[in-house]
Amino acid sequence: MFNKNKTLGEFIIENQTEFQYSTGELSKLINAIRLAAKVVNHEVNKAGLVDILGTAGDTNIQGENQQKLDVLANEKFIQTLKNREIVCGIASEEEDHYISVNSQDENHQNKYVVLMDPLDGSSNIDVNVSVGTIFSIYHRVTPVGTPVTLEDFLQPGKNQVAAGYIIYGTSTMLVYTTGHGVNGFTLNPAIGTFYLSHPNMQFPETGKIYSVNEGNYIHFPQGVKDYIKYCQKEEEDRPYTSRYIGSLVSDFHRNMIKGGIYMYPKSSKAQKGKLRLLYECNPMAFLAEQANGRASDGHQRIMEIEPTELHERVPFFCGSKRMVEKAEEFMQS
Ligand code: AHG
Ligand code: MN
Ligand code: MN
Repeated sequence: MFNKNKTLGEFIIENQTEFQYSTGELSKLINAIRLAAKVVNHEVNKAGLVDILGTAGDTNIQGENQQKLDVLANEKFIQTLKNREIVCGIASEEEDHYISVNSQDENHQNKYVVLMDPLDGSSNIDVNVSVGTIFSIYHRVTPVGTPVTLEDFLQPGKNQVAAGYIIYGTSTMLVYTTGHGVNGFTLNPAIGTFYLSHPNMQFPETGKIYSVNEGNYIHFPQGVKDYIKYCQKEEEDRPYTSRYIGSLVSDFHRNMIKGGIYMYPKSSKAQKGKLRLLYECNPMAFLAEQANGRASDGHQRIMEIEPTELHERVPFFCGSKRMVEKAEEFMQS
């Protein structure tokens, strides 16, 4: 039975043995992400105060606070992971190239690489709407003790050993999987501790919410247009409700709890859609499948796709299993 008084720290230690060949390295890595999440949470929460703090006259503080939050989140995560010397490589939406950690040191034994979207939904920051951080963890494929190569990052999503997100919302949560289901932890800001609040999260088999940027409707493929019309039709349990926050993390989180489908299709303006395979779609797909949901590009499982570049984009359909299957039917007909 799950104990809701359990902290994330306790949970990590208890579940360490679940992971095959565990040396505690993955646990340390999740712990570092937990720490960076708290730091970024602190920054996100005071975002509205930036102008006020900026007039305090302290150029140092002013300079730091006026940094764009996605750049700041990127720095905080990278710094935390580097300081703790627990990964051999990092790739981020905010960095053109991957970062090799400790590449000069032949003795370093770190075997994991992390890929991340440090601040997802960043256009929501200025208007006080939820944003998130997404992370994806792989075992490197090149030998331990050598500098990482691009090959270590260009792995299909099915190779992920862990993935998750942090949602900076009405409360801050860290939700992650190591391939044994999905668990959600809520931050108690008074004491800075995450507690297990959402054990064993599951997408309902089907739902009543569809999330898509309908402003792009005219540019969508016919199959997507037809599926949207299906969602809006007065029939059986429809019309569905439309909900779109514009932050993948937040839209996914709501749909996982309530039941729904998130879509970012290709369009005549963007042939591969918008979302990035490696640090947006793959981690969400891993979480979705671990929570009894489904993630596809309309034709195949997201996690089967062989990536060819770090920042590649892919059409994305993710959520309650039966809803994603239905959307796929429309796209394939
Ligand atoms: P990011 O802020 O990391 O660039 O990601 C934004 C992504 C995703 O989170 C969101 O669902 C989508 O872009 C919104 O795009 P549109 O504004 O085109 O709908
Ligand atoms: Mn994003
Ligand atoms: Mn981002």
